[in-house]
Amino acid sequence: MLIDSHCHLDRIDLKPYQDNFDCFMQEAEASQIEHLLCIAIDLESYPAMLDLVAGFRQISVTVGVHPNVQDCQDPSVDELVALGQADNVIGIGETGLDYFRSTGDLFWQHQRFRNHIRAAKILKKPLIIHTREAGQDTLRILEEEGAREIGGIIHCFTEDWEFAEKALDLNFYISFSGIVTFNNAKEIKEVAKKVPADRFLIETDSPYLAPVPFRGRPNYPTYVRYVAEHLAELCGTSLNKIADLSTENFYTLFKLKPL
Ligand code: NI
Repeated sequence: MLIDSHCHLDRIDLKPYQDNFDCFMQEAEASQIEHLLCIAIDLESYPAMLDLVAGFRQISVTVGVHPNVQDCQDPSVDELVALGQADNVIGIGETGLDYFRSTGDLFWQHQRFRNHIRAAKILKKPLIIHTREAGQDTLRILEEEGAREIGGIIHCFTEDWEFAEKALDLNFYISFSGIVTFNNAKEIKEVAKKVPADRFLIETDSPYLAPVPFRGRPNYPTYVRYVAEHLAELCGTSLNKIADLSTENFYTLFKLKPL
């Protein structure tokens, strides 16, 4: 069984499923996806996201505002804590820093990131971290805000081993997406070989970043198998082993029991 630790279910293309989310979930089950973590991007679309996944016990959610979303409601610590108290909210994010898509004075991004960490510590729920071209500042703010206390996930890992070591030291798990299957992702493949077996996760980040052989096309949580297969190949082990380890790691991090 597999777990997609990061997907945006309210953004996937349901056309191949007759625009029917139930149909999609049936295929997910048939593809042995045992749990999905649906990640929030902003607060404006949050109620609709919750409605979509309501009733599916195998879907958990997070609450947060993505670092690239501007012109939106910027949540206070109190707002995040209020929304984050729901039982199906198991993590806070995605949050972090992105100096690639956002430029200029990014004080607002830092402040938003700090608010998410503070809320996560109050709620005692792990953080889902997005970082792009901002590795040093991401690590520094995590350290300054005491994120070690709760840990979380460095999602869609695209950094080097030096970063990974520091993140592991801060109690974070390293999550590999379809990017690890790309031919040019040499450094990420090296990290995948070195990450301890009890500290990695797998994800799709669907509908973005489809793994090989679907690169450039819409992505689906069912493709998490391709990420697992690639990791198995890199690490010289079996798909089943990667599936079992990543599933166990997910339940350990979020203190959940299999359904
Ligand atoms: Ni994402």
